[in-house]
Amino acid sequence: MDDLTPPATRPANPRFSSGPCAKPPVFRLDALADAPLGRSHRAAVGKARLKAAIDGTREILGVPADYRIAIVPASDTGAYEMAMWTMLGARPVEMLAWESFGAGWVTDAIKQLKLDAVVREAPYGEIVDLSAVNWDADVCFTWNGTTSGVRVPTGDVIPADRAGLTLCDATSAAFAMDLPWDKLDVTTFSWQKVLGGEGAHGMIILSPRAVARLESYTPPWPLPKIFRLTKGGKLIEGIFKGETINTPSMLCVEDYLLALDWARSIGGLPALVARAEANAGAVARFVAATPGIGNLARDPATASTTSVCLTFTDPAIRDAAAFAKAVAKRLEAEGVALDVGAYRDAPPGLRIWCGSTVETADIEALMPWIGWAMRAEIAAQSADA
Ligand SMILES: Cc1ncc(COP(=O)(O)O)c(C=O)c1O
Repeated sequence: MDDLTPPATRPANPRFSSGPCAKPPVFRLDALADAPLGRSHRAAVGKARLKAAIDGTREILGVPADYRIAIVPASDTGAYEMAMWTMLGARPVEMLAWESFGAGWVTDAIKQLKLDAVVREAPYGEIVDLSAVNWDADVCFTWNGTTSGVRVPTGDVIPADRAGLTLCDATSAAFAMDLPWDKLDVTTFSWQKVLGGEGAHGMIILSPRAVARLESYTPPWPLPKIFRLTKGGKLIEGIFKGETINTPSMLCVEDYLLALDWARSIGGLPALVARAEANAGAVARFVAATPGIGNLARDPATASTTSVCLTFTDPAIRDAAAFAKAVAKRLEAEGVALDVGAYRDAPPGLRIWCGSTVETADIEALMPWIGWAMRAEIAAQSADA
């Protein structure tokens, strides 16, 4: 076979974006027809849907009964910044970062909140040495680095008897990776990631110790209304029953409920995790068998199973950034992969979303196309020389 012959099979769904991610396989717009549109979210029907979203989250993720869960404004960013703004400043802070979103939380801590925080950063493709972290400080970190394709392998290193709080941005991990709830005091995510929901709404999950912090500590800086979780030093319990701070989109809520139903129907969290692992496994097999391409994650133990980042290593490549862009463009032009270019701040390459809504057959069908696009681009580059 000619090396440049396009593969015979195309992915049935070419959506491999790392957010918003592919909708669940059962998604159809008319499946949202029962959304209580044009009704108040404070009416019984709206409140019931919001409460179902919270209850379903607890059920599928296995969140302990004494943890609080809320739907909050502004997607994962809103949820995470709400946690930083309401809880940090009470004790020493350590900021851990291994990609651009984690780096954004470092900027928040240092430049906006003006905290004298210890900052531990790892280059793209690595995470920091978690055993060196002072867990008696409040520790902010990202479970899965969406833009760098690395993740925390387990929470074992986090001590159960820590004095600090752990604030975990788990937006590209929740529903695809097991999260150790006893080690996480604040966990945030957005619907737009692993369950293929919509952006705009964030979720925040609080341990009893995080609630104790909220009720015992008042930060020195002002808090906008959309960050306020307490009133008169007491938690506003209604927020954790679906009485949202401001108006949510009931269409997005309905869409999230559909995704939760789908998750339940396939077997819940174990099935969601297994799907992401199977997808990442299919990419790993391709990478192992293909010269000239590598995983950005240096250590397989920390390699992401959702946002898998690939780099091109063929010595014939002259301009890595231009090459990676051209490969992504070829894949898009063929209609086999949309939105797979590496994140703008990350090293040049491809990023293939392997989260739970993506079908393994589609990942398997995509891999030969990546090999093809790479060979075609090297050939084009040589012809230009
Ligand atoms: C690790 C991480 N944190 C935060 C965000 C921001 O999420 P959102 O746009 O849902 O606020 C993203 C988005 O990709 C992310 O990957």
